[in-house]
Amino acid sequence: MELQPLSSSHEAYHDAFQTYRAKSTLTEVVMSYSRQAAAHVIQKLITHDAPVFRVLGVGSGDGKADMEILKAVARGLRSSKDGHSKPQIAACTVEPSSLLISDFKRSASTLPEELANLADVSFDWQETTFDGFISESSWTSELFHLAHFICSLYYMDAEESLKSCFKLLTPGGAMFCLVIKENSFFDILVRQGNLKRLPIPGFYTGQDVVVIAERNNWKHEELPMTHYEVDITDCFNESSQTGSLLLDFLSHTVNFRELADPALYKEMMDFITEVSSTDSKGKMILRPQLSIVVIYK
Ligand SMILES: C[S@@+](CC[C@H](N)C(=O)[O-])C[C@H]1O[C@@H](n2cnc3c(N)ncnc32)[C@H](O)[C@@H]1O
Repeated sequence: MELQPLSSSHEAYHDAFQTYRAKSTLTEVVMSYSRQAAAHVIQKLITHDAPVFRVLGVGSGDGKADMEILKAVARGLRSSKDGHSKPQIAACTVEPSSLLISDFKRSASTLPEELANLADVSFDWQETTFDGFISESSWTSELFHLAHFICSLYYMDAEESLKSCFKLLTPGGAMFCLVIKENSFFDILVRQGNLKRLPIPGFYTGQDVVVIAERNNWKHEELPMTHYEVDITDCFNESSQTGSLLLDFLSHTVNFRELADPALYKEMMDFITEVSSTDSKGKMILRPQLSIVVIYK
């Protein structure tokens, strides 16, 4: 039976991703890394005086990182003005998963106090893929000051998507991508012998984004990398539902434990054993690394 990629089922993806988050420091690390990147970028943008600052989030999921980015943007805009008047921010989110976009809408219905105090923020949710969004020609007339792809570039053609997004940026604007670092866990996984049989769409690394930026003569910079930790101990307990969902996320496969053939299953288990380390409590820990590349227009 052909293995089904996790991203082909919004529900399976949602369940596996929530489990992966619960068992890792991914959410906190991505939130903090995204916030730092936005704070860094906003200082460099030369579009601060726009009456409405427009931010585009691509593949925002439930929007936890987006909220941190918006806070950093609001803080940056506020300090570049007189420090008193509230900047206006229009946040547009492109996200195909109805489940995740509903989570985002719920959390944005009461804006975090810190953000509400800093800026007037309006939201626009587009429940579609980035391709779908781009093909809606009416949107291309509205340019964005900042765009971001947080852990989402993998699910689209990176170069085509970045080129489309670059066109949507106002002159002096910027976009940034949070992706895996080359030679870290997921990069090694997709290049590993038998594991190439996993239905992983292809992970773009920071280096891949740099190469795209260079090929298109875009001004860019790669920020210092960071890492997060995942407790994968449950993957080794065959009766653990959490372990099965973790394996689904790590292999990007729906129901990997049930449906992978024995050779592929063994290869995956051997691989995660080899690249993990055991902590002082006997937990098996993975430390995937992340990178952010900023592209300026
Ligand atoms: C790993 S999640 C990251 C979510 C969020 N940015 C975060 O960091 O928590 C990847 C997201 O990309 C979305 N996605 C998948 N394919 C997409 C596409 N073609 N266009 C836009 N978003 C997509 C998924 O639905 C999912 O929400």
